[in-house]
Amino acid sequence: MMHQSTLLKGLPWLAVAALAVDYPTLPNDLTTPYQQRLAIMGPTSVSIGWNTYEKLNSSCVEYGTSSNDLSQQACSTKSTTYATSRTYSNAVTLTGLTPATTYYYQIVSGNSTVERFLSPRTPGDKTPFNFDVVIDLGVYGADGYTISSDSSTSKRETPYVEPDLNHTTIGRMADTFDDYELVIHPGDFAYADDWYLKLKNLLDGKDAYQAILEQFYDQLAPIAAGKPYMVSPGNHEADCDELSLLIDLCPEGQRNFTDFMHRFDETMPSAFASSSTNTTAQSLAATARTLSNPPFWYSFEYGMVHFTMIDTETDFTDAPDGPDGPDGSAGLDGGPFGQPQQQLEFLEADLASVDRSVTPWVIVAGHRPWYSTGGSSNICDACQEAFEDLLYKYGVDLGVFGHVHNSQRFQPVYNGTADANGLNDPAAPMYIVAGGAGNIEGLSSVGSEPSYTAFVYADDYSYSTVRVLNETHLQVDFIRSETGAVLDSSVLYKSHTEQFVVQ
Ligand SMILES: *[C@@H]1O[C@H](CO)[C@@H](O)[C@H](O)[C@H]1NC(C)=O
Ligand SMILES: *[C@@H]1O[C@H](CO)[C@@H](O)[C@H](O)[C@H]1NC(C)=O
Ligand SMILES: *[C@@H]1O[C@H](CO)[C@@H](O)[C@H](O)[C@H]1NC(C)=O
Ligand SMILES: *[C@@H]1O[C@H](CO)[C@@H](O)[C@H](O)[C@H]1NC(C)=O
Ligand SMILES: *[C@@H]1O[C@H](CO)[C@@H](O)[C@H](O)[C@H]1NC(C)=O
Ligand SMILES: *[C@@H]1O[C@H](CO)[C@@H](O)[C@H](O)[C@H]1NC(C)=O
Ligand SMILES: *[C@@H]1O[C@H](CO)[C@@H](O)[C@H](O)[C@H]1NC(C)=O
Repeated sequence: MMHQSTLLKGLPWLAVAALAVDYPTLPNDLTTPYQQRLAIMGPTSVSIGWNTYEKLNSSCVEYGTSSNDLSQQACSTKSTTYATSRTYSNAVTLTGLTPATTYYYQIVSGNSTVERFLSPRTPGDKTPFNFDVVIDLGVYGADGYTISSDSSTSKRETPYVEPDLNHTTIGRMADTFDDYELVIHPGDFAYADDWYLKLKNLLDGKDAYQAILEQFYDQLAPIAAGKPYMVSPGNHEADCDELSLLIDLCPEGQRNFTDFMHRFDETMPSAFASSSTNTTAQSLAATARTLSNPPFWYSFEYGMVHFTMIDTETDFTDAPDGPDGPDGSAGLDGGPFGQPQQQLEFLEADLASVDRSVTPWVIVAGHRPWYSTGGSSNICDACQEAFEDLLYKYGVDLGVFGHVHNSQRFQPVYNGTADANGLNDPAAPMYIVAGGAGNIEGLSSVGSEPSYTAFVYADDYSYSTVRVLNETHLQVDFIRSETGAVLDSSVLYKSHTEQFVVQ
C-alpha cells in the first residue's frame, strides 16, 4: 500500500488541497502563548510550559500570590522546535513556592492573561485531596471526534470547542475545576497519528498531524494552564502513523516520540529527594532520581501520595513500541530512551524508597494495562512480565492504566489471582483502566471479563476522579463525562502499618 501523501508529493494542486488542513489561525502577536501546561517539578516548584509561533529570545513568567501583585519573575532562554512543527516550546520553572497556596501568573507576552494555580502540597501533608485520571484523550472537532459515542441520540454536526468546551471530558473537567488538584494522563494525547481517518487530510498528512497537535493542546489549555498535568507516553505519541506499515514514511519530526519529548521534557520532574529520615530511603530516592528519565519515567510526591509514572511503550524486554527487531511488537520503532534496564532499576529504587509514614499511598500509572476486559489483544504481557512483580513486592496500592477505550476496575489482583482480602487491606494492587476519555477511535467494547472484574463501562465517554480521603482510605470514582453522573464508586482500605513495604 502506497502512502498517499508520498504518491502525490509535488503535484501542483497539492497546495490547494493543503487548505483542508485545520491549522489554528496565527495570532498577529506571535509571542501569544498557546498550549499552556503546568507540572509539579519539586515539593516547592512548578513548571509552566507553553508554545509560541515564533522563537522567544527569553521566556518569562511573572507571578505572585495576588492577581494584582505579580512581583516575582522566572525566565529561561530555551525555546525549541523540531522539523515539521510551526511552534516553539518554551518552559520556565517557578521555585521556592509556599506549599498549597494559590498563585497567580502571567506569561510575559504582548498578549497574555493572568491565570492561577495551587502550588503543590508538601510530601506528608495529610490534607485530603482529589485528582483526575484522564487517558486516551483525543482532539475534538473536524479532525477528531465530533459526536457523542452514541451518534443516534446525540449528533453534533457542528463541533464547537472554545469557549463552550463541548469536548465532553474537557468540558466536565472545566465544570468541576475546583473538585481536583491535579491530573494524571499516562499516554495517548490528540491522536494526531490518526490524521488519515479524515478524508480531507489525505493529501497532506504532515501538516494534518501538526494541525491536530496544535488544536488538541489548545483545547486542553483551559485545564492544563490551571492544574498540574502529569504525563507519560502512550503508543499514539510514537509516530506519524499508528499503522506500523507506513512509519518508514513518517517525516523527520514525526517519529520516535518527538513532539511528546519537546513538549514535556523541560516540564516533567525527576524523582524527588526523599522526605524520609531513614538514610537507606534517602539513598534509594537519590538513586531513583538519577535513574529517572522524565517525561518517560519519573515520580513525584503530593501530600499523602507517592506517584510513579512508567513508560509501557519502550525500555524493557519486548517493549511493544521498542526498536524494530525482537522487541517492538507494535512495529513503531521507538526508543530506547535510557540505558538497558534503566527504567526497571529506577522503578525498583523508587518504590523501595517510599516511606509510608510520609506518603502512605503509592500509585503507579502507565499506559498499557496487563489487566483488562476484552481478551488478550487488550493486554500487554511484556508489561506484566516487566512490572507486575515490582508493584506487588513494594505494596503499590493502585495501578492506573488506559489504552483500552473504556472504564474498568478490578479487585486487587496479583498474577491473575484475586487477593482474598478484596478491598479490605489487600497485599496486591488494585487496578483500574481509565481509557474512556474520548478520541477519534471511539470506545472499545467490553468483551470478555476476567473473574476479578469489579466494574466496566463502555456506553459513553468517562474518566476517573480519585479521592485521597486519609491515610487509610482511597476512593475511586468513575464519572460519565457528558452528565457528571458517578458510574462507580469504591473505597480501598489499606492499614499502611509498615513504614517500608517489602513482600
Ligand atoms: C491574542 O490571543 C488570542 C488567544 O488567546 C488570539 O485569539 C488573538 O488573536 C491574539 N491577539 C493578537 C493581537 O495576536
Ligand atoms: C530576538 O532577538 C532578535 C535579534 O536580537 C530580534 O531580531 C528579535 O526580534 C527578537 N525576538 C523577540 C521575540 O523578541
Ligand atoms: C456546547 O455546550 C453549551 C453549554 O456548555 C451549549 O449551550 C451548546 O449548545 C453546546 N453546543 C453544541 C454544538 O453542542
Ligand atoms: C530504613 O529503611 C529500610 C528500607 O528502606 C529498612 O530496611 C530499615 O529498617 C529502616 N531503618 C530504620 C532505622 O527504620
Ligand atoms: C529515539 O530517540 C532516542 C533518544 O534521542 C534515541 O536514543 C533512540 O535511538 C531513538 N530511536 C530511534 C529508533 O530512532
Ligand atoms: C503465576 O501464575 C501461573 C499460573 O497462572 C503460575 O504458573 C506461576 O507460578 C505464578 N507465579 C507466581 C510468581 O506466583
Ligand atoms: C478515613 O476515611 C474513612 C472514610 O471516610 C473513615 O471511615 C475513617 O474513619 C477515616 N479514618 C481516619 C483515621 O480519619
